[in-house]
Amino acid sequence: MEGTKFPFQKSASGGSGQTFLPLSRTIPWVIKWQPIYQAECEVLCSKFYKRTFTHLSVPQVEFVSEETLKKLQQFFSQRPSTNIPKDYHPILIEYKVGQNLKKACETNNIFSLSSKAWLTLFENLGEIAGYDLLIGNCDRFIPENIHSTKQAISRVNSGNILIEWNNDKALKTVHLIDNAPHFSSFFDVKEKRSRSSSSSSIGASNLFNNSQDSSNESSQDQSPVQNQIVLSGEQKRKNRLADLKYFTSAPKEGIQKIAKLIYKDIASEFTQQISQPDKLINSLEKGLTKAQLKMKKTKFMDELEAVKKEKSDWSPQATLLLNFMEEAINHLQEIQTTSIK
Ligand SMILES: Nc1ncnc2c1ncn2[C@@H]1O[C@H](COP(=O)(O)OP(=O)(O)O)[C@@H](O)[C@H]1O
Ligand SMILES: [Mg+2]
Repeated sequence: MEGTKFPFQKSASGGSGQTFLPLSRTIPWVIKWQPIYQAECEVLCSKFYKRTFTHLSVPQVEFVSEETLKKLQQFFSQRPSTNIPKDYHPILIEYKVGQNLKKACETNNIFSLSSKAWLTLFENLGEIAGYDLLIGNCDRFIPENIHSTKQAISRVNSGNILIEWNNDKALKTVHLIDNAPHFSSFFDVKEKRSRSSSSSSIGASNLFNNSQDSSNESSQDQSPVQNQIVLSGEQKRKNRLADLKYFTSAPKEGIQKIAKLIYKDIASEFTQQISQPDKLINSLEKGLTKAQLKMKKTKFMDELEAVKKEKSDWSPQATLLLNFMEEAINHLQEIQTTSIK
C-alpha cells in the first residue's frame, strides 16, 4: 500500500462506522473501522449469513491479525484527515460491485431496470427482510415492533444492500452488506439524531469520540420516533424476539401487512411515480413468505456454533447477540418440532 495516493476513499453513505472503499480493483477489500463490539457483531452476522444462506451474496468479512492491525493503524494515521478514533477496530470486507439501493434511487438508475428485474429485486428484499429477524436487525427493511398492535417503527436503511445489474438492465445480484443489528435498538446504546450531518464524509471525524456508547449511529436513526419510551437493551431484544415469533407464525394477512410497511418505506425514496405498486408489494410478500418457510425448515444451530468458534473472547455485546441468535434458533427448532407432531 505504499505510494503517494491514498488508495481508499471514505464512503459518503453510512455513519455508524468509517467505511473506506478501495480506489483500485487490485485491492479486493473494503476497510471498515468501528468500535470493537460493532465490528464483532458485523463479522458474526455476516459469517452466519454466508454459511447459512448460500443462495444469497454475502461478502466475506474478516477480522485482522495483530500484525495487520498495527500496519493499518499506522497507514491510516498518516492520513490525518481520516481521523479514526484510537479505539476503533478495522475489519476487512470483500469489495462488491454495485450501487446501494439509496443511491440507486437518488441517481434514478433504479428506474432503468427492467420490469422483471424490479420484481426479482423486491422478492429478494422481502426475503432478506425476513432473515434479518434472526439477527435482530432492523437496520435494513424490516420494521421494529411488527408483533405489536401499536404502530410498527420503520427504520428503512437502503444503504445496507448493494444492487449489481447487467448492461441490459437485468438484475445481476443483490449483495447483503452491513449485516448487524441496529445497535441502539438492540443494546443499551443512546440514540443520536444527527442524520443531516452524518452523511457527509468531510469533517465527519468531529462526530466521533472514543466512547462506545456514544458512538455515532446516525445512519441508523433516520426515522425519528416521537415520544419513544427509552427501553433497556434487554427489553429491546425481547421485542425483537417477539417480532421473530410473530413473523414465523404470521398468516397471509400479517405478511401482507409487513410487505405494505416495507413498500411504503422504500417508496419514500423513489424520485418517480411507480405505475404498479401492487405488483412490487406482491413480490415483497413472496420473498417474505419464502423466508418464513425457509426459517421453518432449516437447521441453523450448527452454523451458529461454527461461527461462535471463530473467537474465544467475544465482547459482552457480541455475547448478547450470540445469546439472542441462539434463542431465535431455539424458537425455530421448537416450531419445527411442533409442526412435525
Ligand atoms: N463490501 C462492500 N462493497 C462495496 N461497497 C460497500 C461495501 N460495504 C460498504 N459499501 C458502501 O459503503 C456504504 C457504507 O457502508 P456500511 O457498511 O453500510 O457502513 P455504516 O455501518 O456506516 O452504515 C454502503 O452503503 C455501500 O455503499
Ligand atoms: Mg450501513
